[in-house]
Amino acid sequence: MDSSRFLGFLSSRASVRDFTPTPLEEPEIDGILESARTAPSAGNREAWDVVVVTDWEIREALAEAALSQPHVKEAPCILVVCANYIRSMSRYGERGILYAIQDATIACTFMMLAAHAAGLKSCWTGAFNEEEVKEILDLPGHLRPVVMLAVGRGKIPAERTGRMDLSEHVHRDSW
Ligand SMILES: Cc1cc2nc3c(=O)[nH]c(=O)nc-3n(C[C@H](O)[C@H](O)[C@H](O)COP(=O)(O)O)c2cc1C
Repeated sequence: MDSSRFLGFLSSRASVRDFTPTPLEEPEIDGILESARTAPSAGNREAWDVVVVTDWEIREALAEAALSQPHVKEAPCILVVCANYIRSMSRYGERGILYAIQDATIACTFMMLAAHAAGLKSCWTGAFNEEEVKEILDLPGHLRPVVMLAVGRGKIPAERTGRMDLSEHVHRDSW
């Protein structure tokens, strides 16, 4: 893929929050999960884990924990991507906290883009009560839920949101 096609692919993704109830096929979920294995990670420690949630009652509970955001229960699949602190801190100490969060974030980014490549829709969901999510999913203490990626088939065409001008982000050689 050349770079302009790649940019076109990235630009055609948008968050979708209105899903049909059609479940994802197992191969679709597997493809998304495989993509995360290709992500870089600090020291190749792969300090991320994911809980794949398709059960309706658990999705409903997760939606409650996510400030009652309806798309979290309506999406047929929620990928709860977690930072695994032990895997990273065992090598990097305190710095491993940051690395594990970065590992989880980039793994989730790859999953989001893999979903897009498969023609699925998604919504990165970061607003949730971490303690409630830990309890719902029975997460061990060294796992921190970082993102809930809601994935499914979109009911409405995704619309692209606006962006700041690039010059507001980019600084050359120094601030
Ligand atoms: C860190 C982070 C947290 C987010 N949390 C939520 C959220 O809790 N609920 C939601 O509906 N969208 C959430 N989003 C999606 C953003 O609202 C969305 O990406 C942004 O408006 C740009 O739109 P786009 O994804 O369509 O390009 C989050 C995105 C990121 C990166």
